[in-house]
Order: sequence, then structure tokens, then C-alpha cells
Amino acid sequence: MQTVRAPATSANLGSGFDVFGVALDRPTDVVRVEKADRTTIEMTGVGSQYIPEDPEKNVVGAVAEALDAPAHIQIDKGVRPSSGLGSSAASSAAAAVALNALYDRGLSREELVPIAAEGEAVVSGEAHADNVAPALLGGFTIARGGSVTAVDASIPLVACLPEIAVSTRDARAVVPTSASMEDVVHTVGSAATLAVGMCRDDPALVGLGMDERVVTPARAELITGYDAVREAALDAGATGVTVSGAGPAVLAPCPDPDRRHVAAAMVDAFADAGVESRAYQTRVS
Ligand code: HSE
Repeated sequence: MQTVRAPATSANLGSGFDVFGVALDRPTDVVRVEKADRTTIEMTGVGSQYIPEDPEKNVVGAVAEALDAPAHIQIDKGVRPSSGLGSSAASSAAAAVALNALYDRGLSREELVPIAAEGEAVVSGEAHADNVAPALLGGFTIARGGSVTAVDASIPLVACLPEIAVSTRDARAVVPTSASMEDVVHTVGSAATLAVGMCRDDPALVGLGMDERVVTPARAELITGYDAVREAALDAGATGVTVSGAGPAVLAPCPDPDRRHVAAAMVDAFADAGVESRAYQTRVS
């Protein structure tokens, strides 16, 4: 038996669509695995009633298949599905680490990234690594082609999760298929600024570097109250605001002392738009 806990993650961070990701210090999924002749899955926890236990349809089924590691897999969800906080990635990453240990496969965390990404293909149709990479490696990660760069980072953040669901498939469907050269130049500038901010643990640079004009505005349309929540967070001291992953969670970095105030302002703004929400006062870790 192996038990592994994996963290929520946030991908994109505005300017790093399908490239940037961060591990958050909460919430988390816990996965327990026991050897078995065939893979079976048991789900408990937040939103588990919406996740199929059929190994053909569950992300961890794909991970067990990729590692040739059949097991009885128990998943206790702490990261809500369809949240934009890397729910499927947390389960995939924890299962990859647990099954790798259970069957003594000897793979490194880096080698487990493409295996855990197989789980992402089950839910979104694409094996993107921008959530599984930080879930496995921690800190701030850059997934580029088949390679991943990870750096330690410690940035205070608020992740505000409204009581609405946005599927990754739907959120990918609204992403524009082209961008102007002006927007590409702007995005490159933001992405570079954000990466330097992560390396310097500087929330001001990270917030500035989240500014992005192609993917984020299209996805913000799917989140009731986004513009008001964004304004409220900035007024309360956030250094930037963006959609977390595919949404609907909204992410706001800020200086440590402002975190509680930013969290309360975001929850209040969602409430004014008629949407209940929960704010996680968290940190890149
Ligand atoms: N990069 C992916 C997307 C992350 O934004 O669609 C999904 O959580």
C-alpha cells in the first residue's frame, strides 16, 4: 500500500497558456494504491460524485495503464473537479508517484510528468503538462514541448473558486485560434516579466506579467462576475488578476499582508454578482 498527497495547481497564469504552472499549498488530493490483478477505482471527497470510477474514464486509469501497474486506487478529492485548480492533475500526479513506488518502477519525478499527463488527455482531449508538472515538481514550472523547467518560488496568492463549473473541454473550445502580432509581442513581454517575478519572489512583477489579451478575455466570459471580482481584488491590493487554468477559479497574487483583504473582496464581489464562492489564501510552494 502507498499513500501520496498531491497539491492543487494553477496553470497558464495569464501569459503562459499551456506553458506556465504553479503548485499551491492547498487544497490537496490524497491517493492510496494497493496491488491488484486489474485496476479498480474508488472516489470520495469534494465533487467525487461527478467523477466516473470506470478506469477507462478516470484519469488515474490512464496513469495505471501507462505504468503497467494495475491497482485498487482510492482517491480522496480535496481539489474540486472543474475548478481550474488542477483537480485531475492532482489525482494523476499522486497516482503516478504512488504506483511508481508500489511497483518499484524507479522513475524520477521528471520522468513521471508525461505519464501523469496521459491522465489529462482523458479529461481535456490533450496531454498538456502545465498542471501535472507543478503537481509533481512543486514551485513554478515551464512546460515547453516535451521538456519541463522547474524553479522554487514562494508567492502569496488568493485563489477564489465560485460555485460554478467550467469544463476544461468547454474552456478550450473558446480559445481563439489565432492572435495578432501585437498581442503576441505583448504576451511575450508579460511572460518574461512573470518568469523573472517568480525567480525573485516578487508579487508585483508576477501580477504585472499575468496581463494577457487573447485567451484570458475569452475565458473570462464564462465566469459570472469576473470583471467585478478583478476590480475588487486590484482595489484590495492584488498585483494582478487572471483566470486560474481553464477557470472558473480566479487567481490574484498579492503582498502577504494583503491576502486576507483580497480574499474577502473577491468573495464579496462574487456574492454581489449572485455567485457563492470560497477563497483559498494560498502560496506557490
Ligand atoms: N492549460 C490548460 C488550459 C490547463 O488552460 O486549458 C487546464 O487546467
